[in-house]
Amino acid sequence: MKITVQDVRSLKGGRKITMLTAYDYPMASLVDKAGIDMILVGDSLANVVLGLDSTTKVGMTEMLHHAKAVTRAVKKALVVGDMPYDSYQVNTEESVKNAKSFIDEAKCDAVKLEWFDKCPQVTKEIVKAGIPVMGHIGLTPQTADKIGGFKVQGKDAEAAKRLIEQALELEKLGCFAIVLECVPEKLAEMISQKLKIPTIGIGAGVNCDGQVLVINDMLGLFERYTPKFVKKYIDLSPMILEAIKEYKNEVEGEKFPSEQHTFSIKEDELKKLKDE
Ligand code: KIV
Repeated sequence: MKITVQDVRSLKGGRKITMLTAYDYPMASLVDKAGIDMILVGDSLANVVLGLDSTTKVGMTEMLHHAKAVTRAVKKALVVGDMPYDSYQVNTEESVKNAKSFIDEAKCDAVKLEWFDKCPQVTKEIVKAGIPVMGHIGLTPQTADKIGGFKVQGKDAEAAKRLIEQALELEKLGCFAIVLECVPEKLAEMISQKLKIPTIGIGAGVNCDGQVLVINDMLGLFERYTPKFVKKYIDLSPMILEAIKEYKNEVEGEKFPSEQHTFSIKEDELKKLKDE
């Protein structure tokens, strides 16, 4: 049975919630089969799949294209579509329209929105339209230039207080969960205790209600850089490279395809063909 927003909410105070990103059919299918609670079609797509240098460089077209592939594969997990930067830049109506596209067109179950200056207004309207919203505070990559770059957030009392206020505001506005990215463990614990909705940590320590990682990072499929908070559960890139090199050698050495991978034609049919 599909996991609902209500199921996620009710895990608060219970077992830890699991979340991973996925961007295409085969990976989403594996994540779903493994029993992960939520799949995020993250705008990290820009970096780890499309080779771009910023998440702000993907738009609705790319996000919907990948979200559709993910929802085609998923039977159980709750699928969250990540609102790309330009999807909420014009005005609130446009933001709601784009959020609706994730639900109606791409068949996602919810959307995620990174904190930015007009975040409360936009979140309020999307929730009002009946769309479940996951908040995202702390390190918000889309606006990293405005918060001092890709750094741990909330390291002094004043900055930490701002994050607590943002979390409480998002809860009040109706978010069903909040991602805490790159915040000190003790602050994440404090926020998690103050909220009635689950916190999903990434670089926020073990006391959040759940954890999320970018799948390409944890599988060793993204070689450009590895943040401190990433644990590589397997290092696939060197293994894939070896397999590709083996294929190259076998093709060049006429070892592939062997008989096992080859089709045959009956001798008498071949003779007929040759005799024609
Ligand atoms: O885009 C993404 O993958 C994310 C996660 C890092 C939470 O927002």
